Amino acid sequence: MNCNSVRIYDGIFWVGVNDRRVHLFENLWPQPKGVSYNSYLIVDEKVTLIDTVEISKFQEFIANIVGVIGDRKIDYLVINHMEPDHSGSIAEIVARYPNIKLIGNEKTFMMLKPFYGNFVNQYQINDGDSLNLGVHQLKFVFTPMLHWPETMVSFESKTGVLFSGDIFGSFGTLDGGIFDDQVDMDYFENEMRRYFANIVGKYSLIAEKTLKKLIDMNLPLKIIAATHGPIWRSDLKRVLEYYRKWSSQEGENGAVIVYGSMYGNTAKMAEAIACGLVENGIKNVVVYDASKTDISYIFSDIWKYRAVILGSAAYNAALFPSIDNLIRKIEHVGLKNRLVGVFGTYAWSGGGVRNLLKFVENQKWQLIGNGIEAKCSPSVDDFIACKQLAREISKALL
Ligand code: FEO
Repeated sequence: MNCNSVRIYDGIFWVGVNDRRVHLFENLWPQPKGVSYNSYLIVDEKVTLIDTVEISKFQEFIANIVGVIGDRKIDYLVINHMEPDHSGSIAEIVARYPNIKLIGNEKTFMMLKPFYGNFVNQYQINDGDSLNLGVHQLKFVFTPMLHWPETMVSFESKTGVLFSGDIFGSFGTLDGGIFDDQVDMDYFENEMRRYFANIVGKYSLIAEKTLKKLIDMNLPLKIIAATHGPIWRSDLKRVLEYYRKWSSQEGENGAVIVYGSMYGNTAKMAEAIACGLVENGIKNVVVYDASKTDISYIFSDIWKYRAVILGSAAYNAALFPSIDNLIRKIEHVGLKNRLVGVFGTYAWSGGGVRNLLKFVENQKWQLIGNGIEAKCSPSVDDFIACKQLAREISKALL
């Protein structure tokens, strides 16, 4: 057997790949430690592949498969999700195993042809259908918009393995260990939340309902095997709690301060607010310069914490561009239930704080204070106002 194929349970193998070359997932999200594309192989009377991998990794992928089954053929390919990080190798798999039957739902097949061409050997299933593989049996549960309309998950009833697709997925490669008890879960908690906020976040209310649907089914879950990141076998409660918390958008006690500042004057106000929060008992305070840190990390922490304090210098009578970009993202995703304060600087006609206040009103977040706007650089009175804002936000948080 190839050392890159890992048995995860009786007759079930991880045959995924790590991608350390990728810089941007979806050509958008930075991947300093890469990402894994997880695919799974069930070896039974019927050999079944669950999803494939991004096309650039096909050679490694097929070597992993052959390492497990040698000359045996694959009977079924279950397509849980059509995004090309998982569907990218379908055509190559079909070319190698021409009798393989593609298992998907109506919406899967509506995407398959325009993405990859016509495949005759298709088998369409409905929500709740089962497929016998011999000893193993797969049950399909539709999970639309997690994270595309055609998405579904597959539950293997003999072993209790849930092939969960993007749900419970994470950025970061699997460096030797593939299970939750073999990897640094503090690292993966952060990368899982960054994945959730940026990839799944727009559909978080659907995620909340889907999680309830899966829990209400009382599936005897033993393993959760997502398409990215670690496989959960030791602490399923932990990952279910992450998803409950993130999909409900409740936010932990803590604050993210994000600012856009050309020459450091708005930044000084951010420092004063951060000190004020800590002086008033807030332990979790994170400060970001929006021009420096990629938006995916900032947004992940905004998802994590309940208070957000936004600062913007006026730039051409409008918001500072990196802050403008951030608030467009928040609006696009529709994150709710945040306490918010705003601050900034101006030199002549303003445009930073004014537009932040408009954003807060549209977003229906709970505004604390009325916004602090300093002329050119913060005065003593402005710093006092920053400390006052920090006091009020701390009080609201605690
Ligand atoms: Fe990992 Fe939505 O694809």
